[in-house]
Amino acid sequence: MNIFKKLYCRIYQGVFRLLLPVLPYREPKILNSYKELAGLLVASNKHNVLLVTDKGITNLGLPNELINTLKSVNLGVVVYDNTVANPTTDNVEEASSLFHHTECDCLIAFGGGSAMDCAKAVGARVARPNKTLSQMKGILKVGKKIPLLIAIPTTAGTGSETTLASVITDSKTRHKYAINDFPLIPSYALLDEKLTVGLPKHITSTTGMDALTHAIEAYIGRSTTKQTRACALKASKLIFENLFAAYTDGNNLTARKNMLIASNLAGVAFTKSYVGYVHAIAHSLGGKYNIAHGLANAIILPYMLKKYGKCIYKKLWQMGVYAGLFNKSTSKEVGAKIFIEKIEEMNSQMNIGTTISEININDIPTLAKTAQDEANPLYPVPKLFTAKELEEVYLEVKNGN
Ligand SMILES: [Fe+2]
Repeated sequence: MNIFKKLYCRIYQGVFRLLLPVLPYREPKILNSYKELAGLLVASNKHNVLLVTDKGITNLGLPNELINTLKSVNLGVVVYDNTVANPTTDNVEEASSLFHHTECDCLIAFGGGSAMDCAKAVGARVARPNKTLSQMKGILKVGKKIPLLIAIPTTAGTGSETTLASVITDSKTRHKYAINDFPLIPSYALLDEKLTVGLPKHITSTTGMDALTHAIEAYIGRSTTKQTRACALKASKLIFENLFAAYTDGNNLTARKNMLIASNLAGVAFTKSYVGYVHAIAHSLGGKYNIAHGLANAIILPYMLKKYGKCIYKKLWQMGVYAGLFNKSTSKEVGAKIFIEKIEEMNSQMNIGTTISEININDIPTLAKTAQDEANPLYPVPKLFTAKELEEVYLEVKNGN
């Protein structure tokens, strides 16, 4: 990358870093039980909840206990469960009109990233009835308080309960875009490990590796704060200690709880400190070949960490020492390598492959350009790469090394 482009990226990131303390980031307060949630809604003078979820979740009966608890204190519950994976503008419009027609006054997002995205966008539409979703595309276009939003994640990985983003797909054009604004950050999150016990093994592993990628990319980036570093360190330690246990025994409630906590902490870390090239590449592969987000991240992560090379040895060493992978007497270089090997070992133990064969060699230049456009100048990556340099990572991810 030429010096002027590099300078532009670093100045752009520097401005955001300076603004960080004054931007209205907040974290969802953590709730520990449905009873506590019901009490909170009553105390907040709420009467009717719109619960946004999907059919897979309602068919399993996962929200039943919550619904019964809410009804036991005379709260009304309206369920919207038509949300699809990659929620659409039709989903949001349908759920928003249900919110109005049934006179709801608050929202619960119950599910994985899709339910969260849909509920946040419903909040935006309710707050801004005269603005279409596409008019709110981009950054800071909502600008108004949304109805009380409580997030209940049913997977441990996306960290979406902590973020200000809602990703929506236009039903007609299939164009996928993000609405990013501070009011979309849920006010509360309820972490209930029981909801995650039935997750298929490959969802447990790949969403868990997504959370690990959030923690690592936030930590090695150049816009960290004391708080985001602490969150990323705790999250990665919890993931190294609990993900494989949650994967091998889905009923291990302690491991499941710790993974929810880790996902949440990693979410807090990357909301303020961003992700990096791993995510940018994963998004390009998700868009082109529909490769699941967590799976793509898990496979790309070790390749990209090696590509960064020396400049992240110290940070990976710090993460490894904190996680107990080795002690302080290990050299920075050796520690960083052990750290990357640990990621590869986890992938292998959880039957996550080492390559993505779907990548078509002819697509690589366009994919690399897409990833570079996403990452630069926004992501404060430890080292800047050109699209041409990123092409090498795509080749490695395709063929292995
Ligand atoms: Fe992610």
